[in-house]
Amino acid sequence: MSYDPLESIISISLRAGHLIRHRFEEGEYSVEEKKDTHDLVTMIDRESQEVIYEELTKRFPGIPIIGEEDQDFCKEEHAFLIDPLDGTLNFVKKIPFFAVSIGYWKNNAPFCGVVFDPLRNDLFYGRKEHGSYLNGRALHLGEHHLGRHCLLGSDWGHEPHLYQKNIQVMQKLVKEQPCLFRYMGCASLAICYVGAGILDGYWHFKLAPWDMAAAVLIAQEAGAAVSLLDGRPFDLWEANLLTVDPSLKNSFVTFFNQMD
Ligand code: IPD
Ligand code: CA
Ligand code: CA
Repeated sequence: MSYDPLESIISISLRAGHLIRHRFEEGEYSVEEKKDTHDLVTMIDRESQEVIYEELTKRFPGIPIIGEEDQDFCKEEHAFLIDPLDGTLNFVKKIPFFAVSIGYWKNNAPFCGVVFDPLRNDLFYGRKEHGSYLNGRALHLGEHHLGRHCLLGSDWGHEPHLYQKNIQVMQKLVKEQPCLFRYMGCASLAICYVGAGILDGYWHFKLAPWDMAAAVLIAQEAGAAVSLLDGRPFDLWEANLLTVDPSLKNSFVTFFNQMD
């Protein structure tokens, strides 16, 4: 049986996002630490995941779901990959930049995906070979003009040894080309921002599949280059990501290959 769950995952993301927005405005929730003190989880992450699971299992029984708040997961070639609240630290610290992300992958390739920012009501979505959209407006990177400086996004992740690596990247980049930086705190939205031409590029040394599953499709369908940091084709299970305006791809792949 072949499925096209885009309409469903849009409505499920809206439902989970509205719940998150409501809880954010109420401002009452417990916060716990996960493996290390930088990685937080709130009862809202779990509540959102429950809503998404309930809807997906009802509508698409039999399709595996890989969610961030699962205890453990196995690699699947055909699955929904969900981040019920991407940007938990932002949410907890009241930085208004977080999202719900639901991607659907088939044969280890992205089929469709949604990233919803519930505070701005920004709904990013896309379907393989059918383009990507922000609130119904098609995203096309070709119409975008880079200024003299490119604005690059990244994130620190949760592992302190990667902080040092990111600092080295920034030090080397500012020497080599005129760049400005933003650390975003919500990988899925940041990747969509590359597709929307808001950021000129985004890199990350260690992301989970649910952070990337929906957003890489949205960025790619908008015309962004999406790959591993060393330029090999993107692989959801390899944990690292480079997405840039296509005009920047070669120089950034060369750059990251020269890093230690
Ligand atoms: C995190 C965010 C952050 C990225 C981390 C992710 P979470 O997701 O996307 O930007 O740097 O690696 O884990 O924990 O807030 O869902
Ligand atoms: Ca999360
Ligand atoms: Ca995440």
